[in-house]
Amino acid sequence: MQLPVVACSSVFLLLLLLLLAAPSHAHNITSILAGEPAFSTFNHYLSVTHLADEINSRTTITVCAVDNDEMSKFLAGSPSISTVKNVLALHVLLDYFGEKKLHQITNGTALAATLFQATGAAPGSSGFVNITDLKGGKVGLGPENNDGTLGTYFIKSVEEVPYNISVIQISGILPSDVAAAPTPSPSEVNFTSLMSAHGCKVFADTLLGNPDAMKTYQDNTEGGLTVFCPLDDPFKAFLPKYKNLTAAGKTSFLEFLAVPMYLSMSMLKSNNGPMNTLATDGASKFDFTVQNDGDQVTLKTRLGTVRITGTLLDQQPLAVFSTDKVLLPKELFKAEAAAPAPAPASEVAADSPKPSSSSKKKKAPADAVADSPADSPDGNPADETADGSSSSTKLGGGRVLGLLGVLALWVGPFLV
Ligand SMILES: *[C@@H]1O[C@H](CO)[C@@H](O)[C@H](O)[C@H]1NC(C)=O
Ligand SMILES: *[C@@H]1O[C@H](CO)[C@@H](O)[C@H](O)[C@H]1NC(C)=O
Ligand SMILES: *[C@@H]1O[C@H](CO)[C@@H](O)[C@H](O)[C@H]1NC(C)=O
Ligand SMILES: *[C@@H]1O[C@H](CO)[C@@H](O)[C@H](O)[C@H]1NC(C)=O
Ligand SMILES: *[C@@H]1O[C@H](CO)[C@@H](O)[C@H](O)[C@H]1NC(C)=O
Ligand SMILES: *[C@@H]1O[C@H](CO)[C@@H](O)[C@H](O)[C@H]1NC(C)=O
Repeated sequence: MQLPVVACSSVFLLLLLLLLAAPSHAHNITSILAGEPAFSTFNHYLSVTHLADEINSRTTITVCAVDNDEMSKFLAGSPSISTVKNVLALHVLLDYFGEKKLHQITNGTALAATLFQATGAAPGSSGFVNITDLKGGKVGLGPENNDGTLGTYFIKSVEEVPYNISVIQISGILPSDVAAAPTPSPSEVNFTSLMSAHGCKVFADTLLGNPDAMKTYQDNTEGGLTVFCPLDDPFKAFLPKYKNLTAAGKTSFLEFLAVPMYLSMSMLKSNNGPMNTLATDGASKFDFTVQNDGDQVTLKTRLGTVRITGTLLDQQPLAVFSTDKVLLPKELFKAEAAAPAPAPASEVAADSPKPSSSSKKKKAPADAVADSPADSPDGNPADETADGSSSSTKLGGGRVLGLLGVLALWVGPFLV
């Protein structure tokens, strides 16, 4: 009686270990710092500015965190979010500095490029941090263009995952006039007039005509926003379908065409995979997949694939790209096509003694469903196949887990 219980619990443990081990390949700065209440403000602003996403997508980096007191001093000046973003970006070094390496810097001094430099927002050498081994084992840090003053010190190591990410505590915010300079507020970039002037006027006008979606866009411009606007001709052809959506559907559709973070073309090229949008909210996924097609970046859903045809704006924290077709969210258009189906179905059942009227009514929903892909700006049957394979990738993941489970069941008893 004992043995099966032990075997079972060891299987459970093994499964638990497998599950816990699975996501460890990528680091998550938010959850690393979540265990450190002293850095909660710093952590909060990494998320608000979307720098956390940027940090999670990179390896061989060092995050220089400051505690809540130092963050309070910095925030006391009421900096704009884009200023906070620039300053905190200067605290992400694009090289791995664990405690050991900090104390063993070749020739005692090094320059590290930062995320501030990498975003292209930093002029000249203002995006570099000078790290120098000082007397008495102290390590000083300062922006390179700080007149040689290194007024900030290494305090302790918070987390080290060699050589992916090192999180260290430093004594205060790295002083940088350049990073802290009030950058032209992104809200001053009128992206609707920018789109209007560059081939996406119909989309821009539609967005301006929807205050809810417009507000969502505006609320996200400071923290980072990437818009994929369809060119005028395809969007004009799509307008009747748009007008057919419910009010909520219209808003979701417009929000679906933007991502709540800044993505340059090179980031899109290297960040293939599913992408959440402004419309993503819990169960309503409203996501699409970014995929390279040779030199081109494409976006796809089950209903079609669009290509990025131009860059209208690529200036942190805003990017606007034009697309050759209208990307359709599977949630909205699947739901639209499926919604009328149940009612006529029951009608058909009720009408069945009168075949003439039922055949008439049956036709409508059948047409609606068939029309949907054919009418869609991209009714490419190849996309269906491509998407079929992507859904089987998901299935594949499940299969791998299932296999591991079977393996655990098989191995479990031997471990007892
Ligand atoms: C470091 O990152 C790589 C790439 O994401 C991953 O494969 C590896 O498992 C990570 N190493 C650790 C120790 O987390
Ligand atoms: C990182 O961790 C936070 C908190 O633990 C979680 O909310 C967030 O979804 C995680 N991000 C990723 C990309 O897994
Ligand atoms: C270290 O200093 C020596 C002599 O000053 C110099 O030759 C060498 O290039 C330096 N190494 C680095 C990595 O800067
Ligand atoms: C860093 O700053 C120190 C102090 O001003 C200076 O002596 C050193 O040369 C700098 N290091 C680099 C790599 O520029
Ligand atoms: C942007 O320009 C449009 C005209 O294209 C105008 O209607 C709108 O009010 C402007 N938005 C801002 C925030 O200035
Ligand atoms: C709009 O909805 C109506 C009624 O459901 C339908 O007859 C029409 O075909 C739809 N138009 C488009 C463009 O989807």
